[in-house]
Amino acid sequence: MRLGVLADIHGNLPALEAVIAELERLQPDHILLNGDLINAVPFSAAVIDRVRELGWVVVRGNHEFYYLDYVSPQAGVEYQDPARWGQLHWLAAQLTPEQGAYLAMLPDERTLYLPDTAPVRVAHGVPGQNRVGFHSQQPAAEIVAAVAHVAEETLISAHTHVQVDRHVYLHADMVQDFLADPHPNRFTCPNGPRHWHVINPGSVGLPLNGDPAAQFAILESVPEAVEPGGWRVTHHRVPYDRRPALAAYEESGMMEAGGVITRLFYWELVTAEPEIILFYRWARERGMEPDEDIDSTFAAYVAATGRDGYVRARDPLWGMRGLGD
Ligand SMILES: [Fe+2]
Repeated sequence: MRLGVLADIHGNLPALEAVIAELERLQPDHILLNGDLINAVPFSAAVIDRVRELGWVVVRGNHEFYYLDYVSPQAGVEYQDPARWGQLHWLAAQLTPEQGAYLAMLPDERTLYLPDTAPVRVAHGVPGQNRVGFHSQQPAAEIVAAVAHVAEETLISAHTHVQVDRHVYLHADMVQDFLADPHPNRFTCPNGPRHWHVINPGSVGLPLNGDPAAQFAILESVPEAVEPGGWRVTHHRVPYDRRPALAAYEESGMMEAGGVITRLFYWELVTAEPEIILFYRWARERGMEPDEDIDSTFAAYVAATGRDGYVRARDPLWGMRGLGD
């Protein structure tokens, strides 16, 4: 049994098509998409249609909630600020009510019980929290704390846009730590597994591990003796031509509508580095809150760091059309 596992397409149709072509070659038995279909790259509507046409199993991510919250009565007034949320306003205008209804009906998690295999839990972050994610260098104890309530040994996560294939173990001394913890929800599965296999397929459309290739994973069921938990992971990276996606930021009007956040998404597509996090971290380390005046904070960031030049030097469009500054 082989599963194709994708996540974090983020509206990047050219990247999705590159992965689809590779999946055609690899022919997994089933294909699973673990959230964040939309937002960040300008083809969100087309990505929804393409995914629906393929009939894949889909789980919802936090970027689906940006849209679903914004178009619902629960949207806070802060969402109205076009300087901060223009990207989301543009996205909301792109999607039809029917496409929105599709996102609204998606599940937040799944458990796969495929014949003759160990069950696999699937969530964009961890079950119940879609903004928790994992990294390759993260301390194992941190991962165990986040997955301790997961009853299945294998968890497919996403969200961080980096490829992860980690085995973590709850050791006897850690059990004492957890039991002594004043926050009991950190350890809610005392009779559950003592080992978890935590997997992130990486991001199809907006990787943040320094490699701009479209990324995904193949999971193959294997005997427990071969891989604890019963699933072996192969990570894949598919280079593709990013220029049509980059050019679409201007052509679609998204760059003009979306302001600083859209520009940072564009930078992430160029560098495959976490540009939004880098900007917010820089500002907050200096006592600034970007959301209060994002344009002037971003201008200060660019002036102080020269990050625009760093991005331009890596931009496949720069020099062709003068974009990307
Ligand atoms: Fe994402």
